Amino acid sequence: MSVIKRIGILTGGGDCPGLNAVIRAVTKTAVGVHGIEVIGFIDGFKGLVEKHYRPLDFKSVSGIGHTGGTILGTTNRDNPFHFLVSQEGEEPVYQDESQRAVNNLKELDIDGLIVIGGDGTLNIAQRFHEMGMPVIGVPKTIDNDLMCTDVTFGFNTAVDTASEALDRLHTTAESHHRVMILEVMGRYAGWIALHAGISGGADVILIPEIPYLMDKIIEKIRFRYQHNKKFSIIVIAEGAAAIDGEMEVQRMVPTSHDPIRLGGIGRIVGQEIEAKTGIETRVTVLGHLQRGGQPIPYDRILSARYGVAAVEAFITGKYGSMVSLQGTEIKTVPLTEAVKEIKRVPADGEIIKTARSIGISFGD
Ligand code: F6P
Repeated sequence: MSVIKRIGILTGGGDCPGLNAVIRAVTKTAVGVHGIEVIGFIDGFKGLVEKHYRPLDFKSVSGIGHTGGTILGTTNRDNPFHFLVSQEGEEPVYQDESQRAVNNLKELDIDGLIVIGGDGTLNIAQRFHEMGMPVIGVPKTIDNDLMCTDVTFGFNTAVDTASEALDRLHTTAESHHRVMILEVMGRYAGWIALHAGISGGADVILIPEIPYLMDKIIEKIRFRYQHNKKFSIIVIAEGAAAIDGEMEVQRMVPTSHDPIRLGGIGRIVGQEIEAKTGIETRVTVLGHLQRGGQPIPYDRILSARYGVAAVEAFITGKYGSMVSLQGTEIKTVPLTEAVKEIKRVPADGEIIKTARSIGISFGD
């Protein structure tokens, strides 16, 4: 039995398939293997600041390993270091509530926190670690843009969803001799677009890491047309931008760690293609379908491994670290390294070369 008596857990940032599988694995390992109590905070760090929580036991995590979402709730707009305390008329009032969060953990007699999140959430976790809070991070995000891990859980499910959407768009594109555009998520990284595009047989993939030239896209579509391929499939990452352009911002969320929400580039590219080629073009924005629903088996297994490893890391005192997949093994890495910068697609990497070899254009 461990000297650790009680740990907290929270899910932060945008939700993603596999969160429940991590919560389940953490709870089963902590309670069942080590006799440690688990307290789940509601809606991420908001629950920690507002002392909103629920105890987790075998019963509360039973049957959730294959489900989407998070039983704890989450938010990608609450930062304890810049916390919205009131909205007087039009003027929002922010305060640093981090000490309140630390105090809450002490009052509840919790030995530390397992934080499941992407770069925003894990950045906050790192700051709490610097304040003396024992913290272990678990890498979550459909965007796959976290450093120091081969893959984040949720990413492969999002790729699966986007790939299935491309299969469906393919048949209707061919029937109607159209250009079909699929805009996918991913923020400033093109991982989802790249993987789904290769898997779904895209002709053009546009990602933030490779700025595009409209003429090159048109060239590719015309080439296909001349060779009796009267339809084309284009996957566009929401962060893609033209060589002389900028990312399309859809909205701002001021309280969020990253206040920018991207979106809209698919429509812009679609309008331009139609105007320049005369070929009917349709745009589908896949949006939050990529975040919802059940995790695929790969993510269920990865989430279980991350959850178990997070408890083990806690027990062995590896505070301030994040569990990570490296090859076939789960290891730990310092949180500081993981959140230093985001992981973007290497523009000259092997997977880009593979895509180019099979005829995919990146619009460059
Ligand atoms: O980070 C996950 C993600 O889904 C991004 O791919 C996307 O840009 C963003 O979150 C959308 O955020 P929201 O749920 O606030 O619209």
